[in-house]
Parts: sequence; structure tokens; C-alpha cells
Amino acid sequence: MNTKVSPVIDLSRKKDGTNDLAAFTRDVAEGLNRKQKHLPSRYFYDGKGSRLFQQIMDLPEYYLTRSEFEVLTENREAMAAQFSREGYFHLIDLGAGDALKTKILLHELARQQCAFDYVPVDISGDAMQQLTESLHTDLPQVRVEAVVGEYFTALEWLQENKSERKVLLFLGSNIGNFEELESIAFLKEVRSYLQPGDRLLMGIDLRKNPDTILAAYNDKAGVTAAFNLNLLHRINRELGGNFNVDQFYHYAMYNPGEGVMRSFLVSKTDQEVFIRETGQKFHFEAWEAIHTENSHKYSLPQVAELGETCGFQIETVFYDGQKRFADVLFTVR
Ligand code: TRP
Repeated sequence: MNTKVSPVIDLSRKKDGTNDLAAFTRDVAEGLNRKQKHLPSRYFYDGKGSRLFQQIMDLPEYYLTRSEFEVLTENREAMAAQFSREGYFHLIDLGAGDALKTKILLHELARQQCAFDYVPVDISGDAMQQLTESLHTDLPQVRVEAVVGEYFTALEWLQENKSERKVLLFLGSNIGNFEELESIAFLKEVRSYLQPGDRLLMGIDLRKNPDTILAAYNDKAGVTAAFNLNLLHRINRELGGNFNVDQFYHYAMYNPGEGVMRSFLVSKTDQEVFIRETGQKFHFEAWEAIHTENSHKYSLPQVAELGETCGFQIETVFYDGQKRFADVLFTVR
């Protein structure tokens, strides 16, 4: 065969990496100068962090990924049929990564011979290149046009360049990592790039036994701890920090009243850390905590309300057998 692998569309402005470093420096300095110290979770995923997250997904305690796999596997026929009911559509996958979960749907859509094209979106150019190539081998009948860039840059481009109906995938409970107001702002902005009749399939980690949730973020083997602490190693490596990582530990707590899982890095002693790129020294009191991540867990009425507020209406809720996780299919009002 001499069919060509379609090129990736690169909407990311920074190509030399220097801006990335400047942004990382700025975000770290800003977060560590706050009264409640904070480090943004987007920086977890360097090479080492991504490998650790792969290990997290294999942990017996981390049910999220397996549950969503089950949701997609068990419901793929109905999902594919609903997506394609009104004919041709663009399947847009926000934060596609290796698209391991989406491939369940892609195989089913291909099996049902649905008319669509697949538009994975991710900030990692490497990931989009690899995905395009792997789909070319696995599913040569599916038209793929990968986009490298931030979500909204990509959605704006899609609004101008893709005229057909859209089905947006936002899988993996990523919405849970936003603060409440951020998630509303995010979904409202997503809505602004869509038309009535377009759809959104969003992954939601549901409320459940608090012990089950806490264990998922505080595993026995300590992989989550290593993942959280890797953020400090990364600052040492990339920004010339001198964190003594042994002097911090991973602490995770779940508040069942709010339905929020929070992760922290707690300083074991009174200490100072210098980070060369920021040109600043940061003081940590004994037992002072750096907040690193929130993971919101939702009840179904909350999901319906969130959707309602942002211009989406629930069409179908797809569950795993234990109702731990849901992929919620919304239509745009
Ligand atoms: N953001 C993901 C989640 O909420 C990834 C994650 C798993 C995570 N364990 C973590 C993030 C621990 C920070 C700390 O499930």
C-alpha cells in the first residue's frame, strides 16, 4: 500500500520549548508565593510522571480507568448508534493521548460502518503523531485528522474548518480536576463552539463509598505518592530547584460532604528551597502543605445541573456494572 498517513495539524505556538519553560517557571513561582501554596496539576505529566500515571491506572485501588473501560465496552453499540443517528459527524476527542479508550468506540463505529471522521486533540505533538500512525495501521478505514494544541484553540479552529455535526469526547473524569466555577466556565466555553444537536460525551467519577475513593488516591504500594512527589523532582530537574524530596510526603484526603478528593505535598520540617529559574527562595513551615490536585466526584443530579447551567441536556447515562463511573451523553440545547 502506498496510502499516506495524514499529517498532524499543529496549532501550538511554541515549538522550541523555551516558552514552555517560562510558563512552568511563572506558574511555580505564582503557586508557591500564595498563602495556601499550590502547584498546578498539569505539570505532573513529564516523561517520568506519565510512566507513573500508567502504573496508577494498573493499581488495584485505582478503579477509575478500568470502570470507564467497562462503561465504553459494555455500551459501545448504543453509543455508536446514537452518535451516528443523524448521519455524518466529526468525532472530536479532547485530550486524546494514546486514545486507548476511544479506540473501543472507533472499532465499533467502523464495524457499524458509521459515516464520521476522527479528530483527536492533544497538547502533545508526539502523542498525536503516534496515534495517527497507529490508527493508520489498526483502522485504515477511519479518516483521522489530529490537532495539536490547547482545547479552545483547537475548538475555534474546528468551528471554522469542520462544518458537519460534532460529537465531543471529554473522557477520563478530567472535568473533576477543575474547581467548581472553572468547570462551569469550561463547559460554557465548550458550548459556545457547538450548535444545537451537537453532542458531548463526558466521563464522570461518581460518588461512592468514601473509602473506595480515598484508596484510589492513596495506594498501598505508594505509586500515587511517587507520582505526586515527582512534581518536586521535576522542578529540581527543569527549574534548578533544590527540593530535598525526602522532606516532603504525599497526603490525600476525601471530603464526602463536598465530594472532593484533595492531594497535598506536606513539608516534614521547617525548610527553605531555592529554585534557580524563579530567582527566589521559598520558605516552608513544618507541616505546611502544597496543594496539588482536586478530583471532584459527582452525583447524577449534580451532573444534570452542571449540564443545564452550561447549555447541555442529558440524553443518556452509561454506567459500569457497579455504577462507579458514568459516561454521560449530553445534547446541546
Ligand atoms: N487527575 C487524575 C484523577 O483525578 C489523576 C490522578 C490520579 C492524580 N491520582 C492522583 C492526580 C493523585 C494527583 C494526585 O484521577
